[in-house]
Parts: sequence; structure tokens; C-alpha cells
Amino acid sequence: MTPLIQDRTVALLLQGYGWLPDARRRAPDGDVVRTRLLGRTAVALHGPEAVRFFYDEDHVRRAGALPGPVLDTLFGRGAVHTLDGAGHRARKELFVDRLTDPAAVGALVARAEAVWHETFAARAVPGEVVLFDEAALVLARAVRDWAGLPYDDAQAVGLARDCVAMVDGFATPGPRHLRARRARSRQEELLARAVEEARAAPSGPDTPFEAVVRHREPGGSPLDPHTAAVELLNIARPTIAIAWFVAFAGHALHRWPGTRERLRDPDEAPGPYARAFAHEVRRFYPFVPFVGGLAARDLEWHGEPIPEDAMLLLDVYGQNHDPALWPDPYRFDPGRFLSRPPHPDALIPQGGGDTRTGHRCPGEDITVAVLAALARALARLEWTVPPQDLRIPLRRIPTAPRSGFRIALGRD
Ligand code: HEM
Repeated sequence: MTPLIQDRTVALLLQGYGWLPDARRRAPDGDVVRTRLLGRTAVALHGPEAVRFFYDEDHVRRAGALPGPVLDTLFGRGAVHTLDGAGHRARKELFVDRLTDPAAVGALVARAEAVWHETFAARAVPGEVVLFDEAALVLARAVRDWAGLPYDDAQAVGLARDCVAMVDGFATPGPRHLRARRARSRQEELLARAVEEARAAPSGPDTPFEAVVRHREPGGSPLDPHTAAVELLNIARPTIAIAWFVAFAGHALHRWPGTRERLRDPDEAPGPYARAFAHEVRRFYPFVPFVGGLAARDLEWHGEPIPEDAMLLLDVYGQNHDPALWPDPYRFDPGRFLSRPPHPDALIPQGGGDTRTGHRCPGEDITVAVLAALARALARLEWTVPPQDLRIPLRRIPTAPRSGFRIALGRD
């Protein structure tokens, strides 16, 4: 039987970040988008009330929701992202306890700042660097040290390259996708071997690596080495992905020089403005387009029926640019977040709901803190911006300044 609504998978691939906001503008009531994606009925929601609806476990399940090509590149088979209920909560503890502890966040920030300073201080001769590439390397070395990954420096360089490839290639067919698959296989193999070796040796220091190695599932069994490797990559890959936000931070400092002045001001306290800047980078620039799951049963949203097993999408990019939530949403203004922290159901670049019990990103504190610290360090470095292609194509997922944001080091 021919479905009444045309499948929009190709439109998504062609339009990228604009696809869902565009479909919403054309939707009859401008609130809910009914469409078809990957051969399934799909319903896209939007807004803080929709965030609460979407992150209610009774409404949305994740098992079977993510397409194979996304699992084989971005997240890995058996990842925490694919679990529901008690199994999800038990696995999630492994991340939440370690990643949100302020002392642990502070230790990663300190390591990232130290590696950043070593990297740039080592450049005796001023020259040009691609900020995106440098940031990915800094973050890979920092997360390797902080998480206790048994990688030497060459392997840390490979980790940076492979984690960037996994994120870059998850949403697109063709060579980028094949590169992402190969990158994942390589890193899963290396890390699974490291897990097996660690298990054959006495326990090491208390690190995220050791926590994954020694973790027990609810039945008492350890994670199999492949799943352990997948979850280690779920710490390393997204930490390295903060490089996308660092490149966007460079773009913002260049485009709105007042923000750079303020981050360089010696009288400016290190905390509040840099954090507000980090939040605005996460809101303003396009990274995650939407998150998705499957309707756990027949549901209804604002009178709209949603059949069991339909795909439910939460429009992250659209929500982060909704004028009802963010006055003048295409103005870059860290001031929005200076007087008060963002409402957790409004600002959702890393998902919504509750971090511990739901699927909200457990790395949000890390992302904000690391991005704030590196944006401040970047603002204080001497650089200029040579001519280059600074366009950020919205059709490409994930996107970045086309040039990766090149800077010429030296006096500005
Ligand atoms: C580059 C910045 C980051 C972005 C844009 C980001 C975005 C996201 C998003 C959108 C989700 C899914 C929410 C959902 O499924 O509803 C997520 C989940 C997750 N993130 Fe992040 N994240 C980032 C950084 C981090 C960091 C630094 C870590 C760890 C160190 C991390 C670890 C995870 C994990 C383990 C999950 C799965 C949570 C679950 O399914 O319960 N992320 N992230």
C-alpha cells in the first residue's frame, strides 16, 4: 500500500539542519510535524512541554530506535543510548557519577587547559593553524590522560582522527560514512583489547577507564569487552567532539570582537561570562539537529494521535532558535545567560529531561566547563584571521566553518 505521506529521508539528507524547522513552518498548526522518515511514520515535537513529554520513559523507548548506520558509526552497538528502563539506569550510573562530579569536571578542565598551553607554547615560530584540528588533538590528549586510556601519544592522535571521523560521517552516505565505520571498528578493537589486558592485571588507579573495566551489569556480569569499548568511546568521542564548539567559539570571537575583548579582560572573573559565552555557542551554532525515539504505546500530543512504534523526534536545532524562547534568536548574545542559568527544558543542545534517569547527555557539565575554559584561553591568545571560507553550510550534518577556522598565530 502506498503511504499517504511521502517519505522525507531524502529531503532531510538534502536540507540538513533546515529540514525540520522548515517542515514546521509549513505544518498546518505550526506545532507538530507529521511526516515519514526511514519508512516509518514520524512525528516531530518542539518546545519545553514537548521536552517533558518526549523524555517521559512511559512515552518513548530507545531500543530499536536508532538506525544501524548511526550505531555503526556514532554510538556503537549495545551503547547506553539504546537501552531502556532498569538496564538503562544501571548503565547510566557508570557515566553520571563520574562525569558530573565537580572535582572530576575540574580535573578534566585543568588537563585540557594544560595541554592547550603546552600545544600553543610549543609553537616557537608563529604560523597558521586550523583551530578545529588543534582543538581535537588537545581534547584527545586531555581525555586520554583524564580517563586513564592506555594510549601512547601516536594512539591519542589516532583517537582524535577516528573520533572526528565517527561524528563527521554518521549522517551521510558515501565516503565520509565509510571512513566513520572504519574509524569505529579500529577504535573498538584497540579498546576491547585494552579492556581484556586490564582485566588480566591488578586494578589500576580509580579512573573512568577502570570504572568501565570493572563495571557490573544488573545480573552481576561484567560488560563484554566490545560493549566496554563502545562505552569508553562514548566518553572519548563526545569529549573530542567539543572541538566543533571550539571552532564555533573561534568564529564567534572573530565575528563579534566585543566578546573576545570581554573574555580577555584581566578584570573579568573567569567564571560567569565564559560560561554564558559557552551556553550561547551551544544554543546559537548548529550541531545536533534533533533527537529521536519510538512511541512506546499509542500516544496523543495536543490532540494529535501518535501510534505505537511511530518515530518521535524532538527538534533540537529549531527549539534553540525559537523566537518564543529566545528573543531575536539569530543574534549571538551571551548576555542571555548572564543573569540566570538556562532553563533545562528550554536549552537542549545536548538533549533534555533528567540526566540520571533519562537520556539527557551526562557530559553537559564537562562540555560547558571545557568550552568556557578553552574559549577564554583562545580569546587570550594572539591571532588574526587570514582570508578563508568561513561559511557554515546548514545542509551538512554535522557542520562547521568550511575552513575549520584557520588562525595566524602572532600579534594581533
Ligand atoms: C560536544 C558536545 C556534546 C554534545 C553536542 C552532546 C549531545 C548529546 C545528545 C544530543 C545526547 C542524546 C540525548 C538523547 O538521546 O535524548 C547525548 C547523550 C550522551 N552523551 Fe553527550 N554531548 C556532548 C558531549 C558529551 C560528553 C563530553 C560526554 C562524555 C564525556 C557525553 C556523553 C554522552 C552519553 C554517554 C550519552 C548517552 C546518554 C543516555 O543515553 O542516557 N556527551 N549527548
